[in-house]
Amino acid sequence: NGSAAKAGKTRNILEKMDESGKNCVVFYGSQTGTAEDYASRLAKEGSSRFGLKTMVADLEDYDYENLDEFPEDKIAFFVLATYGEGEPTDNAVEFYEFINGESPTFSKGEEEKPLGNLKYVTFGLGNNTYEHYNSMVRRVDAALRKLGADRIGAAGEGDDGAGTMEEDFLAWKEPMWEALTEKMGLEEREAVYEPVFSVEEKPELSADDDTVYLGEPNKNHLEGKQKGPYNAHNPYIAPIAESKELFTVKDRNCLHMEIDVSGSNITYTTGDHVAIWPTNAGVEVDRFIRVLGLEENRHRVINVKPIEVTAKVPFPTPTTYDAVVRYHMEICGPVSRQFVSTLAAFAPNEKAKAEMTKLGTDADYFKSKISSQYLNIAQVLHSVCPDQPWSAVPFSCLIEGINKIQPRYYSISSSSYVQPKKISITAVVESIRIPGATHIVKGVTTNYLLALKQKQHGEPHPDPHGLTYAITGPRNKYDGIHVPVHVRHSNFKLPSDSAKPIIMVGPGTGVAPFRGFVQERAEQAKRGEKVGPTILFYGCRRRDEDWLYKDEWDSFKASLGENLTIFNAFSRESPGKKVYVQHLMKQNAKLINDLLTKKSNFYVCGDAAHMAREVSDMLAEIIADERGVDLKKGEEVVKNMRSSGAYQEDVWS
Ligand code: 2AM
Repeated sequence: NGSAAKAGKTRNILEKMDESGKNCVVFYGSQTGTAEDYASRLAKEGSSRFGLKTMVADLEDYDYENLDEFPEDKIAFFVLATYGEGEPTDNAVEFYEFINGESPTFSKGEEEKPLGNLKYVTFGLGNNTYEHYNSMVRRVDAALRKLGADRIGAAGEGDDGAGTMEEDFLAWKEPMWEALTEKMGLEEREAVYEPVFSVEEKPELSADDDTVYLGEPNKNHLEGKQKGPYNAHNPYIAPIAESKELFTVKDRNCLHMEIDVSGSNITYTTGDHVAIWPTNAGVEVDRFIRVLGLEENRHRVINVKPIEVTAKVPFPTPTTYDAVVRYHMEICGPVSRQFVSTLAAFAPNEKAKAEMTKLGTDADYFKSKISSQYLNIAQVLHSVCPDQPWSAVPFSCLIEGINKIQPRYYSISSSSYVQPKKISITAVVESIRIPGATHIVKGVTTNYLLALKQKQHGEPHPDPHGLTYAITGPRNKYDGIHVPVHVRHSNFKLPSDSAKPIIMVGPGTGVAPFRGFVQERAEQAKRGEKVGPTILFYGCRRRDEDWLYKDEWDSFKASLGENLTIFNAFSRESPGKKVYVQHLMKQNAKLINDLLTKKSNFYVCGDAAHMAREVSDMLAEIIADERGVDLKKGEEVVKNMRSSGAYQEDVWS
């Protein structure tokens, strides 16, 4: 039951479109906000270029029983991300079940093509390093067609794994618009920027007023109340109980943090994920504010309202320019070519305008100048025009064109059995040096966590550029030693019977959930429960450099004894010879196969692009060798293990 229902608004999409005078709805199924962003862009473009009356809709805000009455002269877009193991995103689950006939279905049978009136467009967001590439959009498209609906244009698919999402999107949408204009008899017109939101300054209010939002995500937080349920709209601002560095080398640190959720009703189980709500680095906020010419106004109070009635303002207001930029905009995220095109119109001079237009239209040029350098939007604008601020860019255009900041998910590295009210995370702090570039790219959330750790310990921040986290206002919720969090439940779980063997493969921070698994089993053993063989394949560069939880494993070993075996792959200890977890798996093929025949679960956590794939291939090889069957059969066994839940992955790219 989405927010529309709670606000007493209609869940009937046809009624909604009628009463707001719309003929185009862009539905999105989004987990991390990317699909939502693409949906808004399509809606904007449909309206500014083709005069469609567009609206964007969260799939979970509507019911679909009357989709068979969708008028012929209207159009529905579906922008759908595929999530995890080919699942729908959380907000798309009900829709997905509905169109697959799991919910009360249309009055007419399938043969009668109940959706014969529906014209639709689809674009999917996926990642080809996962097995179920874009399966959500593919299945929805097939289901809609089966029900008689008419797709306009090709079914678009963007690939995050290959890093081509944006280009895939741009290449797909032009022929789609062409097909759509033809089908609907639309005329293209000169696109002009039409604001979706109005931004009004409120001189009568001051940033200190307690009605003004300074990063608080909702009214309860503004009023200083914390109330569950805690979820992607409502974090719990948790004290950090402990934070330390597990190792520190040049450009790489690894943090261990303990987040205290005892003041909340938050629960988790071992293997779940915790979401961290980041704040942008002060140095980046300052850059953005400066480049956009907002310095003098940064603490002015503004009200942001939708001009277009169906649009949702992505943060609560009244607020300030500074707070919006600091807490709500993904200002360090990748920049899209389309957004650069849009901003060309507001360039401070003709030269800058020409350069922006060139960047916006020439994909290779854009790649060499911007995406390959990982420039963020303020860096792009500054490099195009270093000597004048971009004051003509409407703030509404920035709100619409820059993604809403999203919480980041980490695999919890503690056991809920041992510490139900303290959540551990293990995070490598990322800083990337780009060959040939002068700047270092810093991961937003991990550097935020590092800054929190340093603040907690009263340490100076070592970054010469002053990566400060300005904590604004008199309210101390973002005081630097609390962190906004919520928990997301996962299916990555220990067997319910602790006597069953388990095999875990987790190099690098992929070891995080396995620290939780082993912590849990050690405690079970201590309490006299029967615990089965517990095998961990771990990998890092060198034993004296980045070996995570080096000393803890011994104490777990003291409780688990023979039942805990850890194989360590040190990849950079022997010059010229990489040792990886999968090599050690191969050396222990017999052990692995024996345990699998004893119903062992097999778990992989960490890098999706290479490691997880190679581990899966290696397991198939091991099974084939040990059982004397061909590789194809080995692969089939692994596949069956996946579908039965005996092979579980928690991977990221
Ligand atoms: P490397 O950086 O020396 O190549 C954690 O990051 C560990 O995983 C490191 O030891 C890293 O080795 C290793 N690693 C890198 N690529 C891998 C792969 N494809 N499979 C398994 N381990 C990998």
